[in-house]
Amino acid sequence: MKIERVRALEILDSRGTPTVQAQVWLSDGSSASAQAPSGASTGRHEAVELRDGDPVRHAGKGVLRAVRNVEEILGPAVIGLDAADQAAVDARLIETDGSPNKARLGANALLALSCAAARATANARRIPLWRYLAGSRTPTMPIPMVNIISGGLHAGRNLEFQDFLVRPRGYPDLASALEAVTAVHRATGKLLAMKGCILTGVADEGGWGPRLASNEEAIQVLHEAIAQVGADMDIVLDVASSHFYEEGTYRLEGRELTAEGMADLLAPWLEKYGVRSIEDPLAEDDWAGWQLLTARLGNQVRLVGDDLFVTNLTRLEKGIAECAANAVLVKMNQIGTLTETFGVIDRAREAGFGAVISARSGETEDSFLADLAVASGAGEIKVGSITRSERLAKYNRLLEIEKWEWPATKEG
Ligand code: PGA
Ligand code: ZN
Repeated sequence: MKIERVRALEILDSRGTPTVQAQVWLSDGSSASAQAPSGASTGRHEAVELRDGDPVRHAGKGVLRAVRNVEEILGPAVIGLDAADQAAVDARLIETDGSPNKARLGANALLALSCAAARATANARRIPLWRYLAGSRTPTMPIPMVNIISGGLHAGRNLEFQDFLVRPRGYPDLASALEAVTAVHRATGKLLAMKGCILTGVADEGGWGPRLASNEEAIQVLHEAIAQVGADMDIVLDVASSHFYEEGTYRLEGRELTAEGMADLLAPWLEKYGVRSIEDPLAEDDWAGWQLLTARLGNQVRLVGDDLFVTNLTRLEKGIAECAANAVLVKMNQIGTLTETFGVIDRAREAGFGAVISARSGETEDSFLADLAVASGAGEIKVGSITRSERLAKYNRLLEIEKWEWPATKEG
């Protein structure tokens, strides 16, 4: 099925900031759209999200240039290609952009188009997107790591750590796991209110954004909430440490810590609170620190590189070679095409690294990554809390897959 027509649109994300939607038509008349997400605590080495920089519109954050790039440059470059040959489509997009980090035409432009082409092909074949994306991989229903308390750049810097999450353990299906998560979310809200926290709204990813005395206090509240409702859950952290790191020093809670100091801070919590996975405990370029931490804690806890790897195969290879981290966070827009995203997931699996499919803090109602998580067999997904519909679009899509489309029987 050939790509016949492409168009794009500037839409708004969950923070009211513009992002790109692309639509692709195939020669059989099938079509589909996809929307690019957008991060706030972005890694320095991510592919570039193209913004207009025109202060008169959206405080400089408009994406009309990226939209035009889809319609006038990237679209015409892929018209006539077989949409089912995703590698060829993405190679053409990358080659047309021509820059090392997609800064010329925009990773937001490339990604929306890359995903729309895949979805249109699944539509043309009349099979679920996840089944099309899986190809020869073995799909699995992913376990969610769900944000309950938010901090960092997603909640007005109330706490240094960015996400305090739970990961359900041993539930028979996603529906019952999510039910237990909502109970923990409610119990956490009550505990926070009892502590006198004013809970007027939710943070960027839908979690509570309380002002607490320390990061450990947030973990304690979560630990207590889990016990209170009798849920079977691990605690997971996204430290997102790059934003409080400067020149060899981690500045938090009025202290200045080295990488070793960070390891001393985190290590006792594994046992004490059941912390099983820690994302970005160290900064994006602190490779020596990551090596040290991985040697010390890597056999007890999942150490996930987000800003460290930015879904970039070259950086992941360095991590594998140097034993820095033991898992990778996967965000499609950090790299900008579906093929490169799968490249990172597949390489992680081959190297014995974990992979967590993740949303951004700025999201849309697009549920593409629910299908990606199932298709890739990555096993874990992180899309924020259980409030705010841009988060629920993903959970609800997973529920739909679990109930109506699972298990995979035959290729359509
Ligand atoms: P971001 O946050 O989308 O703002 O980068 C998500 C995360 O750090 O995991
Ligand atoms: Zn992160």
